[in-house]
Amino acid sequence: MEGAGTVSDRRVLLIVGGGIAAYKCLELVRLLRGRGIAVRPVLTEAGSRFVTPLSLAALCEDRVHTDLFSLTDEAEMGHIRLSRSADLIVVAPATADLMARAAAGLANDLATTLLLATDTPVLMVPAMNVRMWNHPATQRNLTTLRADGVRFVGPEVGDMACGETGPGRMAEPAAICEAILEALSPAHGPLAGRRAIVTAGPTAEPIDPVRVLTNRSSGKQGFAIAGALAALGAEVVLVAGPVSEPTPAGVRRVDVETAREMLAACEAALPADIAVCVAAVADWRPAEVSAGKTKKVAGTAPPEIQLVENPDILATLSRRADRPALVVGFAAETETVEAHAQAKLERKGCDWIVANDVSRPGVMGGTANTVSIVSAAGIERWEEAPKTEVAARLAARIAAALDGGPA
Ligand SMILES: Cc1cc2nc3c(=O)[nH]c(=O)nc-3n(C[C@H](O)[C@H](O)[C@H](O)COP(=O)(O)O)c2cc1C
Repeated sequence: MEGAGTVSDRRVLLIVGGGIAAYKCLELVRLLRGRGIAVRPVLTEAGSRFVTPLSLAALCEDRVHTDLFSLTDEAEMGHIRLSRSADLIVVAPATADLMARAAAGLANDLATTLLLATDTPVLMVPAMNVRMWNHPATQRNLTTLRADGVRFVGPEVGDMACGETGPGRMAEPAAICEAILEALSPAHGPLAGRRAIVTAGPTAEPIDPVRVLTNRSSGKQGFAIAGALAALGAEVVLVAGPVSEPTPAGVRRVDVETAREMLAACEAALPADIAVCVAAVADWRPAEVSAGKTKKVAGTAPPEIQLVENPDILATLSRRADRPALVVGFAAETETVEAHAQAKLERKGCDWIVANDVSRPGVMGGTANTVSIVSAAGIERWEEAPKTEVAARLAARIAAALDGGPA
């Protein structure tokens, strides 16, 4: 298990506003990249007068997003997805203008639309002339943004490019980097202090010492969910069937083979606040496991395999007296996906079913997923996204539900 402060593999969406201090964001990108943090840059129109998209793109090793109405951007990523593609949104420099527009809830360019369309935490780094900073309008906006949950770094007091002295100077890149690392630290995440169990991958049910009954689950979605919950501060036990995925940072992994082992590992990990059952657990296992390898004998009929039902891990966890506060199951279906998911929700006694259509090419074993969240509140359909994004969004949704949000 890696340290609780691990932040590598985290993603920052950096919005660069049109201030003289914008040049400092290049050094900031360098520092963040050095810490293993991916930076996706967004440049306001005014920002592009101070730093070039080329410098930002080169340092971020990512394309720079500037235009809300770019057809290419919408086709490739879409402004809604872009707004949710990071663990933290950083606005540096946050101009007086950006602060005012964000405080007012305006969405009249890409930067402010992203800020309005997201529930990702936001960190602003103001930089402006001292009188602009001290102006009652800016101070009102600061109060509003703080009340909306926006965090701030700086401004510092010092000499400014305009020749005046006072508060308004943008914090130095090293200090901003530290604030970002702290904001990204799982110890500060909304799931800090919560325990989660995640199952992932297939099970393998032995027929004899060399043969197993298994399925095509890769474990990718479950592993991504375990990582996303840990990134929000949860203490995660990942009960994994036989897969080759690397263990996500900050997660305790328990490897199992059979459904019965998986259930035992889940029960041993209780009590927990959250259970997310992503594993494709075999419904049946061979009734008899042959002690030696079953031999092919010329002229005889192939052996018959009698199957017996495996324990139902999702239903068992949902019905226990000490059940986790939120139990989420996955339903891999190939037809009438949502109707099956609704039925499964009732049958298993869990709180949400994440339904995915595994008949779609590339879902099983692939890197993208299209899911619907089925709960007592109804059905939420999510557009296709990489499994890591589905995981991040689901983890945020779980955090909000445990915090008293919609269940
Ligand atoms: C040379 C110059 C420097 C500027 N520096 C700042 C600044 O440091 N902070 C600020 O809030 N605005 C500054 N402005 C004004 C902003 O560029 C202007 O409000 C712009 O509309 C901000 O757009 P944006 O918030 O979309 O990036 C400056 C303008 C110029 C011409």
